This record gives sequence, structure tokens and C-alpha cells, in this order.
Amino acid sequence: MRAADCTPCNLAEASEALESGLLVAFPTETVYGLGADAENPAAVARIYEAKGRPSDHPVIVHLAPGADLSYWAKDIPEAAHLLVKAFWPGPLTLILKRADHIPDAVSGGQDTVGLRCPSHPVAQELLKSFKAGRGGIAAPSANKFGRVSPTKAEHVIEEFEQELGPGGLIASVLDGGQSDVGIESTIIDLSRLATHGPVLLRPGHISVDQLSAVLGVVPATPDAAAPRASGTLESHYAPRTPVILVNPDELDQVVAVLENKGKTIALMSCQSHPELQAKAWTQLPTDPAGYAFGLYAGLRELDQVAADLILVEQLPSDPAWQGVNDRLRRAAFDSRHVLGEWLS
Ligand code: TXA
Ligand code: MG
Repeated sequence: MRAADCTPCNLAEASEALESGLLVAFPTETVYGLGADAENPAAVARIYEAKGRPSDHPVIVHLAPGADLSYWAKDIPEAAHLLVKAFWPGPLTLILKRADHIPDAVSGGQDTVGLRCPSHPVAQELLKSFKAGRGGIAAPSANKFGRVSPTKAEHVIEEFEQELGPGGLIASVLDGGQSDVGIESTIIDLSRLATHGPVLLRPGHISVDQLSAVLGVVPATPDAAAPRASGTLESHYAPRTPVILVNPDELDQVVAVLENKGKTIALMSCQSHPELQAKAWTQLPTDPAGYAFGLYAGLRELDQVAADLILVEQLPSDPAWQGVNDRLRRAAFDSRHVLGEWLS
């Protein structure tokens, strides 16, 4: 199966497929989503089946521009309207108390719902056509559970080869080019505003500073005891090859030791390192937005060269890098002991 170009005809077909309970992968400005009709529990169950995702993980509901929030959520605080006005359409997800008719399948059994209005023109066209703009498309990132999110239609096709085509779970993959932002939306929880204030569940392109400026307070970070979002699990966004974060000052030394041990490396960095023998190298821009844009495609490419390790040069720790650093830390989580074991 090839990805479908976004002609009006393909969009109409995709929208009909969603209305009949099938899955459609579509581009958003953050990453590609794997969508289903949010009000059809059987369709939402197909997302979990295709992704291999535990069913207690809630999915974000994507809404058309101008959608009626009060159809999807209740007890909506003024802060939600302020954030919608400032950042929608765009890469911000709001967690609100869910309206009573929202299926458990969408909210993972919680009393909340995640809502987002994407700015990507293809996502918007699909949302406007689906149920004449009054529906919601439940969509997690279009990758297998725990893996790297897709930023291109090819990534979705690689990942879901088995589920595509006649009789498969996914009816179509819409191609809208490479996602501009490159990392998943910022998630802010406003569902317990009175007791907890606004809580940042996942950092992203829309920064804490931008949120604080609109909210008038700095959002809290969630207590580690209550991981409510799968994107906040310690291990996530991970390629198959172990990912190791390395301090730039120690890179040469680490690579020399690994070479001595006969290990092959793939390298991701902003600086060029002509002195290093890497099987593959991805150089990314030195600004956070440019880095985020290339991050997941870079990790996927490096994963394919079958090196023993992907070494990623550590980035600055200032707030502008928060979203990227969060994704890298989770991608590297499972392999955090590997280097120590090999170097010992
Ligand atoms: O940019 C994005 O957010 C992309 C695109 C496709 O919109 N979607 C995405 O979905 O990253 P997913 O499922 O991979 O990550 C969404 C996160 C998950 O960690 C999920 O647990 C959390 O949002 N989430 C969704 N609804 C929630 C809720 N009611 N309460 C807490 N977390 C929620
Ligand atoms: Mg995801």
C-alpha cells in the first residue's frame, strides 16, 4: 500500500472510512496520528489493537476549528478558553473533565478527556469533512506502542505493514509531507484546576513560558507517582538500537573505548565530528525547533543501519530545549545501563 495524496477524493474516502468505523492515519503538524471515530468504541478499540497499546491509556480527541468544547468536556474553566484562543489550532492538548457521553475507550476509564485542534491543513480538511465537522477523531501517534512517533507517511507505512491493505485494520494513510513541529503536542491538565492548578503533563513546542504568559501562573509538573499519559512513561519514543546520551566533551573518549571493544556506532549531533568512525551520522540544527523537526526521522534512519549503539550528543538544558530533551531522555531510558556495562 502507498500513502494517498490528499486530493478531495482521497479525503472524502478517508472521512467515509472513519464514519464506517475504520482507522485512517493522517498528518498533523506535530506527528502523524492513527485516527478513529471518537464516539465509536469499537473503532477506538481497533487503534489499541493496531498499536499494541494497553487499553487503559487514554487517546487525544482531535477537533475541527471552531468545534464546541462543551460537547466534549464539562466544567470547562476560563483558562481553557484562554489557551484555546492563544494556541488553537496548534500543538497544544487540553485535559478537561469529560462530558458524560464520551466513551470509556477514549479516556482509558478516566473522568477526563484530552482535546486538541491541529493546525495541519490536511488534518483540518479531514476534520471538517468527517461528520460535517461535528465529529472528533481519536488519535494517538501512528506508531507501535513505545516506539518512535512518525513524522512522514512512509514511517507509518513501514510501521504498520501488516495492518494495511485489504482486510487490514487501517483503511488509508494520508500523505501530508513531513510534520513541521516534529515532536508531540504539549499537554496541559486543567481538569483539577481548583486543587492542583494547571499541570504540564508533557512538554512540547508550546513552552512553559508561553503557557504561563496566558495562564498568569507557571504550570506544575506532575508528581511521578501518577503517570497518566503514556508519553510520560519513563521509557518511550525508543528505536530498537539502544540510544545513549553522551556529554559532548566526552564523546571522543567514549567512541574510542567502544571502538576498542569492537562496537559500531551511529551518531546524532549538532556539531560535525569528522574524526569519528560512525556507521551513520545525522547532523541536526542547533536551534530547538529545527532539531525537533529532524529528531524522529533521524532516529529512524540511524536505527536502520544496525549499529550496536546510537550515540546522541547531549543538548543544552535550558527551557527552550525542554520538549526535545524530554523525548531524548525517554528514548534512552531502557539503555541507560548499557554503556556502563560495556565500558566496565
Ligand atoms: O501531537 C500529538 O499529541 C499527537 C498527534 C497525533 O496529535 N498525538 C499523540 O498521541 O502524541 P499519543 O496517544 O501518542 O499521546 C497522547 C498522550 C498520551 O500520553 C495519553 O496518555 C495522553 O496524551 N492523554 C490523552 N488523554 C488523556 C487524559 N484524558 N488524561 C491524561 N492524559 C491523556
Ligand atoms: Mg505516542
